[in-house]
Amino acid sequence: MSIHYEVISDDDISCLKDLCNELMSYQKSKSTIHSELFDSMSFETRMIPSVKSAKKNYILVAKDDNEIVGYVYSNISSKETYSNVFATFFDLDSVKNEDVGCLSQFYIREEYRNSGIGSVLFNRSMDWLSSFKSIKDLFIFVSNGNDNALKFYQGKGFKVSHQILDGFITVLRNT
Ligand SMILES: CC(C)(COP(=O)(O)OP(=O)(O)OC[C@H]1O[C@@H](n2cnc3c(N)ncnc32)[C@H](O)[C@@H]1OP(=O)(O)O)[C@@H](O)C(=O)NCCC(=O)NCCS
Repeated sequence: MSIHYEVISDDDISCLKDLCNELMSYQKSKSTIHSELFDSMSFETRMIPSVKSAKKNYILVAKDDNEIVGYVYSNISSKETYSNVFATFFDLDSVKNEDVGCLSQFYIREEYRNSGIGSVLFNRSMDWLSSFKSIKDLFIFVSNGNDNALKFYQGKGFKVSHQILDGFITVLRNT
């Protein structure tokens, strides 16, 4: 295994199509509450619109030689983005500033998990998010049944805030 890390520009995200769709399938496989909601979630419906609508994006991949084996996608968006017809993800009044940071997508291929790659991607995302002085509030949204991810984020200092959509999503915050 020879792992290295590369930042991907917003224009090059098509290389993440397969991994993004694997993430959606993985989340569906773990989910017991409203798992049907994942049927409409894909690279086209989740990643492309999110990258287009965010104010800033940070996409970091892990490569084994030339093959992408994992990625993390974080962004900075207006807090109003998180109150829409689908859900109100958090109380907008609980965020003082206009914008929030979010670790939005995170996936490592199964055979590459538990060897520290996720921690590298996570830490570099946090470094990027923390580099914006106006961003105080960070969010991660974990779908139900994904207890491993929940524990991973809690181990990195994120705290469970609340659940939305009947427990379909657990909202984690940095404060
Ligand atoms: C969540 C996920 C991204 C974490 O990535 P990862 O590469 O497995 O993460 P790491 O290897 O850095 O850490 C995982 C565990 O291995 C341990 N670990 C870290 N470095 C290690 C190393 N060098 N050798 C062995 N174990 C190590 C960590 O302590 C951690 O244990 P903990 O969770 O009990 O603290 C990955 O498991 C994944 O892709 N899961 C499926 C998709 C998913 O759930 N995405 C999140 C959606 S919200």
